Amino acid sequence: MLEINNLEVVYNKVILVLRGISLTIEDGQIVAFLGSNGAGKTTLLRAITGLLDIHNGDVTKGTGSYDGKPLFGPDPDAIVRRGISHVMERRRIFADLTVEENLRSGAFTRRDAGIKDDLEAQYERFPVLGERRNRTAGYLSGGEQQMLAVARAMMARPKMLLMDEPTLGLAPRLVEEVAQVIKDLNAEGIGVLLVEQNASVALQIADHGYILETGKVVHDGPAEQLREDEDVKEFYLGVGGDGRRNYREVKHYRRRKRWLS
Ligand SMILES: Nc1ncnc2c1ncn2[C@@H]1O[C@H](COP(=O)(O)OP(=O)(O)OP(=O)(O)O)[C@@H](O)[C@H]1O
Ligand SMILES: [Mg+2]
Repeated sequence: MLEINNLEVVYNKVILVLRGISLTIEDGQIVAFLGSNGAGKTTLLRAITGLLDIHNGDVTKGTGSYDGKPLFGPDPDAIVRRGISHVMERRRIFADLTVEENLRSGAFTRRDAGIKDDLEAQYERFPVLGERRNRTAGYLSGGEQQMLAVARAMMARPKMLLMDEPTLGLAPRLVEEVAQVIKDLNAEGIGVLLVEQNASVALQIADHGYILETGKVVHDGPAEQLREDEDVKEFYLGVGGDGRRNYREVKHYRRRKRWLS
Protein backbone atom coordinates (compact mmCIF):
# COMPACT_ATOMS: atom_id res chain seq x y z
CA MET A 1 0.00 0.00 0.00
CA LEU A 2 1.20 3.49 -0.89
CA GLU A 3 0.21 6.29 1.40
CA ILE A 4 0.82 10.00 1.07
CA ASN A 5 -0.10 12.61 3.66
CA ASN A 6 -0.16 16.29 2.93
CA LEU A 7 2.64 16.27 0.36
CA GLU A 8 3.98 19.65 -0.66
CA VAL A 9 6.70 20.21 -3.22
CA VAL A 10 8.54 23.48 -3.59
CA TYR A 11 10.73 24.05 -6.65
CA ASN A 12 13.79 26.27 -6.36
CA LYS A 13 12.76 27.51 -2.92
CA VAL A 14 9.95 29.62 -4.37
CA ILE A 15 7.43 27.82 -6.55
CA LEU A 16 4.91 25.73 -4.63
CA VAL A 17 3.96 23.00 -7.12
CA LEU A 18 2.12 20.49 -4.98
CA ARG A 19 -0.08 21.91 -2.25
CA GLY A 20 -1.04 19.25 0.24
CA ILE A 21 -1.71 16.01 -1.61
CA SER A 22 -3.09 13.11 0.47
CA LEU A 23 -3.96 9.71 -0.94
CA THR A 24 -3.94 5.99 -0.33
CA ILE A 25 -3.32 3.47 -3.10
CA GLU A 26 -4.04 -0.19 -2.44
CA ASP A 27 -1.75 -2.85 -3.92
CA GLY A 28 -2.67 -4.19 -7.32
CA GLN A 29 -4.88 -1.30 -8.43
CA ILE A 30 -4.66 0.87 -11.51
CA VAL A 31 -4.98 4.46 -10.37
CA ALA A 32 -5.19 7.30 -12.87
CA PHE A 33 -4.10 10.89 -12.33
CA LEU A 34 -5.70 13.37 -14.68
CA GLY A 35 -5.09 17.08 -14.98
CA SER A 36 -4.11 19.78 -17.42
CA ASN A 37 -0.56 20.83 -18.28
CA GLY A 38 1.34 22.06 -15.27
CA ALA A 39 -1.09 20.59 -12.72
CA GLY A 40 1.78 18.78 -10.98
CA LYS A 41 1.33 15.20 -12.18
CA THR A 42 4.96 14.61 -13.15
CA THR A 43 6.10 16.29 -9.96
CA LEU A 44 4.00 13.87 -7.91
CA LEU A 45 5.66 10.86 -9.57
CA ARG A 46 9.12 12.39 -9.18
CA ALA A 47 8.50 13.01 -5.50
CA ILE A 48 7.47 9.37 -4.97
CA THR A 49 10.52 7.94 -6.75
CA GLY A 50 12.94 10.46 -5.25
CA LEU A 51 13.81 12.15 -8.53
CA LEU A 52 13.36 15.75 -7.45
CA ASP A 53 16.46 17.88 -7.80
CA ILE A 54 17.31 18.49 -4.16
CA HIS A 55 20.65 20.08 -5.11
CA ASN A 56 18.80 22.89 -6.83
CA GLY A 57 16.53 23.61 -3.93
CA ASP A 58 13.60 21.28 -4.64
CA VAL A 59 11.99 20.45 -1.31
CA THR A 60 9.41 17.88 -0.22
CA LYS A 61 7.21 18.36 2.85
CA GLY A 62 4.68 15.95 4.27
CA THR A 63 5.00 12.23 4.84
CA GLY A 64 4.59 9.13 2.75
CA SER A 65 5.08 5.41 3.01
CA TYR A 66 5.17 2.33 0.83
CA ASP A 67 4.66 -1.07 2.46
CA GLY A 68 4.92 0.71 5.79
CA LYS A 69 8.38 2.15 5.13
CA PRO A 70 8.92 5.88 4.59
CA LEU A 71 9.02 7.56 1.17
CA PHE A 72 10.55 10.88 0.07
CA GLY A 73 14.07 9.94 1.11
CA PRO A 74 17.19 11.08 -0.77
CA ASP A 75 17.95 7.72 -2.44
CA PRO A 76 16.08 6.91 -5.69
CA ASP A 77 17.86 3.52 -6.06
CA ALA A 78 16.47 2.41 -2.73
CA ILE A 79 12.93 3.10 -3.98
CA VAL A 80 13.55 0.93 -7.05
CA ARG A 81 14.87 -1.86 -4.84
CA ARG A 82 11.72 -1.61 -2.75
CA GLY A 83 9.63 -2.33 -5.82
CA ILE A 84 8.57 0.96 -7.39
CA SER A 85 9.65 1.58 -10.98
CA HIS A 86 9.14 4.78 -12.97
CA VAL A 87 8.42 5.00 -16.70
CA MET A 88 9.33 8.58 -17.31
CA GLU A 89 7.61 11.23 -19.40
CA ARG A 90 8.78 11.27 -23.04
CA ARG A 91 10.25 7.79 -22.67
CA ARG A 92 13.79 8.81 -21.68
CA ILE A 93 15.38 5.70 -23.07
CA PHE A 94 19.15 5.74 -23.73
CA ALA A 95 19.08 6.62 -27.43
CA ASP A 96 22.72 5.64 -28.10
CA LEU A 97 22.50 2.24 -26.44
CA THR A 98 21.00 -0.87 -28.00
CA VAL A 99 17.60 -2.22 -27.04
CA GLU A 100 19.23 -4.94 -24.96
CA GLU A 101 21.58 -2.53 -23.21
CA ASN A 102 18.58 -0.39 -22.31
CA LEU A 103 16.83 -3.40 -20.85
CA ARG A 104 19.89 -4.44 -18.87
CA SER A 105 20.14 -0.90 -17.48
CA GLY A 106 16.67 -1.44 -15.99
CA ALA A 107 18.09 -4.23 -13.83
CA PHE A 108 20.81 -2.01 -12.36
CA THR A 109 19.67 -2.57 -8.78
CA ARG A 110 19.67 -6.37 -9.09
CA ARG A 111 22.43 -8.83 -8.29
CA ASP A 112 20.44 -12.05 -8.81
CA ALA A 113 20.86 -14.65 -11.53
CA GLY A 114 17.40 -14.16 -13.05
CA ILE A 115 18.24 -11.23 -15.34
CA LYS A 116 18.79 -13.32 -18.46
CA ASP A 117 15.42 -15.05 -18.03
CA ASP A 118 13.69 -11.73 -17.46
CA LEU A 119 15.23 -10.36 -20.66
CA GLU A 120 13.71 -13.26 -22.58
CA ALA A 121 10.40 -12.70 -20.82
CA GLN A 122 10.34 -9.10 -22.04
CA TYR A 123 11.17 -10.22 -25.61
CA GLU A 124 8.29 -12.63 -25.37
CA ARG A 125 5.96 -9.91 -24.16
CA PHE A 126 7.21 -7.45 -26.80
CA PRO A 127 8.36 -9.52 -29.80
CA VAL A 128 9.29 -6.37 -31.72
CA LEU A 129 11.95 -5.64 -29.09
CA GLY A 130 13.30 -9.16 -29.45
CA GLU A 131 13.65 -8.68 -33.20
CA ARG A 132 15.48 -5.42 -32.64
CA ARG A 133 17.52 -6.35 -29.57
CA ASN A 134 20.83 -5.24 -31.12
CA ARG A 135 19.51 -2.08 -32.75
CA THR A 136 20.28 1.39 -31.47
CA ALA A 137 17.27 2.39 -29.39
CA GLY A 138 17.17 5.94 -30.75
CA TYR A 139 16.12 4.60 -34.15
CA LEU A 140 13.05 2.79 -32.84
CA SER A 141 9.65 4.27 -33.65
CA GLY A 142 7.79 6.21 -30.96
CA GLY A 143 5.58 3.25 -30.08
CA GLU A 144 8.54 0.87 -29.94
CA GLN A 145 10.39 3.29 -27.68
CA GLN A 146 7.40 3.40 -25.36
CA MET A 147 7.34 -0.40 -25.21
CA LEU A 148 11.08 -0.34 -24.49
CA ALA A 149 10.55 2.15 -21.66
CA VAL A 150 7.92 -0.13 -20.10
CA ALA A 151 10.04 -3.27 -20.60
CA ARG A 152 13.06 -1.55 -19.07
CA ALA A 153 11.04 -0.59 -15.99
CA MET A 154 9.85 -4.21 -15.73
CA MET A 155 13.47 -5.39 -15.58
CA ALA A 156 13.60 -4.07 -12.00
CA ARG A 157 10.85 -6.60 -11.12
CA PRO A 158 8.57 -3.91 -9.68
CA LYS A 159 5.47 -4.39 -7.59
CA MET A 160 4.25 -0.97 -8.65
CA LEU A 161 4.79 0.87 -11.93
CA LEU A 162 4.58 4.64 -12.17
CA MET A 163 3.82 5.64 -15.75
CA ASP A 164 4.00 9.24 -16.96
CA GLU A 165 1.96 9.85 -20.13
CA PRO A 166 2.67 6.49 -21.75
CA THR A 167 0.34 7.21 -24.69
CA LEU A 168 1.69 10.67 -25.49
CA GLY A 169 2.18 11.16 -29.21
CA LEU A 170 1.10 7.66 -30.19
CA ALA A 171 -1.34 6.79 -32.98
CA PRO A 172 -4.74 5.50 -31.79
CA ARG A 173 -3.89 1.86 -32.53
CA LEU A 174 -0.74 2.12 -30.41
CA VAL A 175 -2.65 3.88 -27.64
CA GLU A 176 -4.89 0.81 -27.47
CA GLU A 177 -1.82 -1.43 -27.46
CA VAL A 178 -0.24 0.43 -24.55
CA ALA A 179 -3.56 0.32 -22.67
CA GLN A 180 -3.66 -3.44 -23.20
CA VAL A 181 -0.07 -3.81 -21.92
CA ILE A 182 -1.03 -1.90 -18.77
CA LYS A 183 -4.05 -4.15 -18.24
CA ASP A 184 -1.93 -7.28 -18.77
CA LEU A 185 0.71 -6.15 -16.28
CA ASN A 186 -2.00 -5.36 -13.77
CA ALA A 187 -3.57 -8.79 -14.28
CA GLU A 188 -0.18 -10.22 -13.27
CA GLY A 189 -0.51 -8.38 -9.97
CA ILE A 190 1.43 -5.18 -10.63
CA GLY A 191 -0.04 -1.95 -9.31
CA VAL A 192 -0.04 0.96 -11.75
CA LEU A 193 -0.05 4.65 -11.06
CA LEU A 194 -0.94 6.15 -14.41
CA VAL A 195 -0.54 9.81 -15.31
CA GLU A 196 -2.46 10.67 -18.46
CA GLN A 197 -3.90 13.61 -20.30
CA ASN A 198 -5.81 11.13 -22.39
CA ALA A 199 -8.56 10.88 -19.80
CA SER A 200 -10.83 8.56 -21.74
CA VAL A 201 -8.16 5.85 -22.09
CA ALA A 202 -7.05 6.26 -18.48
CA LEU A 203 -10.57 6.00 -17.06
CA GLN A 204 -11.31 2.98 -19.21
CA ILE A 205 -8.56 0.91 -17.62
CA ALA A 206 -8.29 2.44 -14.13
CA ASP A 207 -9.97 1.35 -10.91
CA HIS A 208 -9.81 4.79 -9.35
CA GLY A 209 -9.06 8.29 -10.61
CA TYR A 210 -7.77 11.53 -9.15
CA ILE A 211 -8.13 14.92 -10.78
CA LEU A 212 -5.31 17.32 -10.08
CA GLU A 213 -5.49 21.07 -10.65
CA THR A 214 -2.68 23.49 -9.78
CA GLY A 215 -1.11 21.13 -7.29
CA LYS A 216 -4.26 19.97 -5.53
CA VAL A 217 -6.60 17.02 -5.79
CA VAL A 218 -9.92 18.65 -6.72
CA HIS A 219 -11.88 15.45 -7.25
CA ASP A 220 -11.48 11.70 -6.99
CA GLY A 221 -13.59 8.56 -7.17
CA PRO A 222 -13.98 5.14 -8.75
CA ALA A 223 -13.15 5.33 -12.46
CA GLU A 224 -16.62 4.19 -13.50
CA GLN A 225 -18.11 7.02 -11.47
CA LEU A 226 -15.75 9.60 -12.98
CA ARG A 227 -16.62 8.36 -16.47
CA GLU A 228 -20.25 9.27 -15.76
CA ASP A 229 -19.56 12.51 -13.87
CA GLU A 230 -20.99 15.46 -15.83
CA ASP A 231 -18.05 17.82 -15.14
CA VAL A 232 -15.46 15.18 -15.91
CA LYS A 233 -17.33 14.33 -19.09
CA GLU A 234 -17.60 17.92 -20.14
CA PHE A 235 -14.10 19.04 -19.26
CA TYR A 236 -11.90 15.97 -19.59
CA LEU A 237 -13.69 13.60 -21.92
CA GLY A 238 -15.24 16.27 -24.12
CA VAL A 239 -14.65 17.82 -27.51
CA GLY A 240 -11.96 16.84 -29.95
CA GLY A 241 -12.48 13.16 -29.34
CA ASP A 242 -9.07 12.58 -27.78
CA GLY A 243 -9.99 13.69 -24.29
CA ARG A 244 -7.53 16.57 -24.24
CA ARG A 245 -8.40 20.07 -23.08
CA ASN A 246 -6.46 23.26 -23.07
CA TYR A 247 -5.68 25.36 -20.08
CA ARG A 248 -8.20 28.13 -20.83
CA GLU A 249 -11.05 25.66 -20.84
CA VAL A 250 -9.91 24.25 -17.53
CA LYS A 251 -9.66 27.72 -16.04
CA HIS A 252 -13.20 28.32 -17.16
CA TYR A 253 -14.11 25.05 -15.47
CA ARG A 254 -12.61 26.18 -12.19
CA ARG A 255 -14.35 29.56 -12.38
CA ARG A 256 -17.64 27.88 -13.03
CA LYS A 257 -17.08 25.45 -10.16
CA ARG A 258 -16.52 28.43 -7.85
CA TRP A 259 -19.75 30.07 -8.94
CA LEU A 260 -21.64 26.89 -8.37
CA SER A 261 -20.24 26.26 -4.91
N1 LIG B 1 12.42 21.92 -12.19
C1 LIG B 1 11.46 22.83 -12.09
N2 LIG B 1 11.69 24.05 -11.58
C2 LIG B 1 10.71 24.97 -11.45
N3 LIG B 1 9.43 24.76 -11.82
C3 LIG B 1 9.13 23.57 -12.36
C4 LIG B 1 10.11 22.54 -12.54
N4 LIG B 1 9.52 21.48 -13.10
C5 LIG B 1 8.21 21.81 -13.25
N5 LIG B 1 7.98 23.06 -12.82
C6 LIG B 1 6.66 23.73 -12.78
O1 LIG B 1 5.85 23.00 -11.86
C7 LIG B 1 4.52 22.92 -12.34
C8 LIG B 1 4.08 21.48 -12.40
O2 LIG B 1 4.85 20.78 -13.38
P1 LIG B 1 4.64 19.25 -13.73
O3 LIG B 1 5.67 18.91 -14.72
O4 LIG B 1 4.58 18.47 -12.48
O5 LIG B 1 3.18 19.29 -14.39
P2 LIG B 1 2.41 18.17 -15.20
O6 LIG B 1 1.06 18.06 -14.57
O7 LIG B 1 3.22 16.95 -15.31
O8 LIG B 1 2.23 18.85 -16.64
P3 LIG B 1 2.25 18.21 -18.11
O9 LIG B 1 0.88 17.67 -18.34
O10 LIG B 1 2.54 19.37 -18.99
O11 LIG B 1 3.33 17.16 -18.16
C9 LIG B 1 4.51 23.64 -13.68
O12 LIG B 1 4.03 24.94 -13.46
C10 LIG B 1 5.96 23.67 -14.10
O13 LIG B 1 6.23 24.80 -14.88
MG1 LIG C 1 4.02 15.91 -16.86
